[in-house]
Amino acid sequence: MNDNTFEKDYFGGKVSSLYKQYRLPYPSDVYAVILNHIDPLRRDFCVDIGCGNGQATHELAKVFKKVIGVDPSQGQIDECDKSMSPNVDFIQSKGEDLSFLDDHSVDLITVAQAVHWLDLDRFFKECKRVLKKTGAIVMWCYRIIDLKNNQKAKEIHENHYFNTLKDYWAPEIKMIDNEYRDIKPPFDIVERVSLNYTIKLSINHFINIYKTWSGYNSYLKTNKDILPDLKKQFLDCYHTTDDKSSIMECTYPYSFIICKNEES
Ligand SMILES: C[S@@+](CC[C@H](N)C(=O)[O-])C[C@H]1O[C@@H](n2cnc3c(N)ncnc32)[C@H](O)[C@@H]1O
Repeated sequence: MNDNTFEKDYFGGKVSSLYKQYRLPYPSDVYAVILNHIDPLRRDFCVDIGCGNGQATHELAKVFKKVIGVDPSQGQIDECDKSMSPNVDFIQSKGEDLSFLDDHSVDLITVAQAVHWLDLDRFFKECKRVLKKTGAIVMWCYRIIDLKNNQKAKEIHENHYFNTLKDYWAPEIKMIDNEYRDIKPPFDIVERVSLNYTIKLSINHFINIYKTWSGYNSYLKTNKDILPDLKKQFLDCYHTTDDKSSIMECTYPYSFIICKNEES
């Protein structure tokens, strides 16, 4: 890794495999937003920053000739399937240091649920250096899942996110809660897009998503685990003992920022 110090590895260790198992793959609607904003003739080289286990990296490799996934977390890089796409490479590095890329060589930089962890001034400076004049950045995040079909379960879930874990979220998470509106990229064209995606999940799956949250894992270091009790409460809310059937209607609220230069 280039800049070797990575203190904020919230998704390393055992969290990496839980992340791969329980954070859902991005739906096709997400890739449609990206591709609708990118010229079909400019799909040579894409770099996916904060790639995690590479789920978006591999998907982007279906449309770009070459894709590099970049992440500073050893645990996350270990979870990346290195043989799935022949046109993908993974590099362990922070997104603020892209010194392994030539000036003006990249068509698209993507950052999925990760840009809030970066030093934005340094990152955007690197983007300007490595992007072609016609290049673009697409960053996206999703906020807390909105539980649609059970008001009581929604209140319990939101109470844990906003109150129980309040002091355990890193300050960066505020950027997600605020739909990335605080991020002001220094580009000529900055477009913002919202998207809702709804899917049904089991109580078991939903509970396991908590285990991938940085705030939950910080809380767990000094507090008793909330998940056994939370699971009981959700089962009560849905009047069931079945934690495996997909009964929780979950809406993921996505926010995108798309940046381009005037020339593009
Ligand atoms: C919430 S995960 C998202 C992973 C992946 N993009 C996805 O959507 O599944 C955030 C990722 O950002 C990475 N990250 C944290 N700080 C970073 C930095 N300075 N540069 C690049 N990636 C970083 C973490 O290691 C983690 O893999």
